Amino acid sequence: MKRIGILTSGGDAPGMNAAIRAITRKAIHEGLEVYGINYGYAGLVAGDIFRMDESTVGDKIQHGGTFLYSARYPEFAQVEGQLKGIEQLNKFGIEALVVIGGDGSYHGALRLTEHGYNTIGLPGTIDNDIPYTDFTIGFDTAVNTVLESVDRIRDTATSHERTFVIEVMGRGAGDIALWSGVAGGAEAVIVPEKDFSMRKIADKIRAGRNRGKKHSLIILAEGVMHADEFAKELGEYGDFHTRVTVLGHVQRGGSPTARDRVIASQMGAYAVDLLQQGKGGLAVGIENNKIVSHDILDLFDAKHHAELSLFDLNNSISY
Ligand code: F6P
Repeated sequence: MKRIGILTSGGDAPGMNAAIRAITRKAIHEGLEVYGINYGYAGLVAGDIFRMDESTVGDKIQHGGTFLYSARYPEFAQVEGQLKGIEQLNKFGIEALVVIGGDGSYHGALRLTEHGYNTIGLPGTIDNDIPYTDFTIGFDTAVNTVLESVDRIRDTATSHERTFVIEVMGRGAGDIALWSGVAGGAEAVIVPEKDFSMRKIADKIRAGRNRGKKHSLIILAEGVMHADEFAKELGEYGDFHTRVTVLGHVQRGGSPTARDRVIASQMGAYAVDLLQQGKGGLAVGIENNKIVSHDILDLFDAKHHAELSLFDLNNSISY
């Protein structure tokens, strides 16, 4: 194998640039040529492909986003698009591809694999919702970004004796809410993986107030419901001077944390090792601090499990 390609796809995540850098530098170190593909699968089909060298990835590790740009491209679910993508790869003499992205991106990688094209997936999403990896690239940065906001909101919540419902991203997964909730000392964490009782939450806030507590913070995962709706329902159980903050896309940007840069670098270099061994159809992850890989196909039969011990922990220490 002489040439590999890299693309980032789906929602961007801090640390994607660190992964692109690691793949590129490691591959060049091993004597391979590297091509960048802009705008994910859309750029692949359009042939938006360029040669990269060691300098192309210089001065990128500290930046959020992805300098290869990203796109959501549902059209890649069609065989026609997949074959066009492979045609473009063949045209450039690219023999294997590394895809960095989330669930949708892995579907694309699986399809390419089914057409006999060697593809390796790296988990790049703030949601942390990919099976067979304890952490995805971007999750740690997103949690820290949320945490910074939670700390700020706590200041103003205390001054005005208010309750805040803070809606965080995560799609169908509660990971961002769980980690930022525990780290931020939130009175309640509401996630799709656990049922909740509005009455119990209201009782908890009331008990805190009666003890002289000045603020209440509720971290709500977007997969449960909208924060406005939640605040309205909470209002039916009492007046808690509630305000709503939807953090939104601020969670997707920013300079990646050391942890995200390191796991991105480890996973990127490992992907090159796998390709050099002639392997493909694999998804890279980190389990118990060790970089691992699994058959991409297995990911679609598996389910991501959020760390729900954090939910119980939060209930026992935050009230
Ligand atoms: O998958 C990452 C994510 O940020 C989710 O947390 C969120 O639900 C979604 O993407 C938002 O998508 P978009 O950027 O396309 O609005």
